[in-house]
Amino acid sequence: GSGDAAAGEKEFNKCKSCHMIVADDGTEIVKGGKTGPNLWGVMGQQAGVVEGFNYGDSLVAAGEAGLVWDEANFVAYVQDPRGFLQTYLDDSGAKSKMSFKLRKGAEDVYAYLVSVGPA
Ligand code: HEM
Repeated sequence: GSGDAAAGEKEFNKCKSCHMIVADDGTEIVKGGKTGPNLWGVMGQQAGVVEGFNYGDSLVAAGEAGLVWDEANFVAYVQDPRGFLQTYLDDSGAKSKMSFKLRKGAEDVYAYLVSVGPA
């Protein structure tokens, strides 16, 4: 990836109203909200599988169809979550519970999330 993790850490301020980053051992990397799932360990993994989070049907369907959060998918998703799911599922009726759109800097946020995630 081409992202700058330090820039991504600042950019993550736009995410933390809805997303925390808390490691498996309970270490609080970012104390965030609960509207969205915990983003620790999500990069590189199947979409829609954080335990205990109540995802929308479309994101779960995309994960079951093979969606994994690599850099390209993550960047496209955070720029337009609903549009991404509609394209990925080839379903103009697909919906997203995340309506926030990050216009730029998604590569940096990706680098940041990888840097704080499991080795
Ligand atoms: C889902 C990233 C901002 C609410 C997700 C997912 C990612 C993500 C990667 C999918 C997680 C998974 O598959 O387990 C981000 C980033 C943000 C951001 C990087 C900032 C740039 C926000 C904000 C909100 C929000 C501000 C609330 C206003 C949600 C919700 C979901 C979600 C509700 C679940 C979506 C669904 O089930 O359809 N987010 N998010 N996110 N996010 Fe965000």
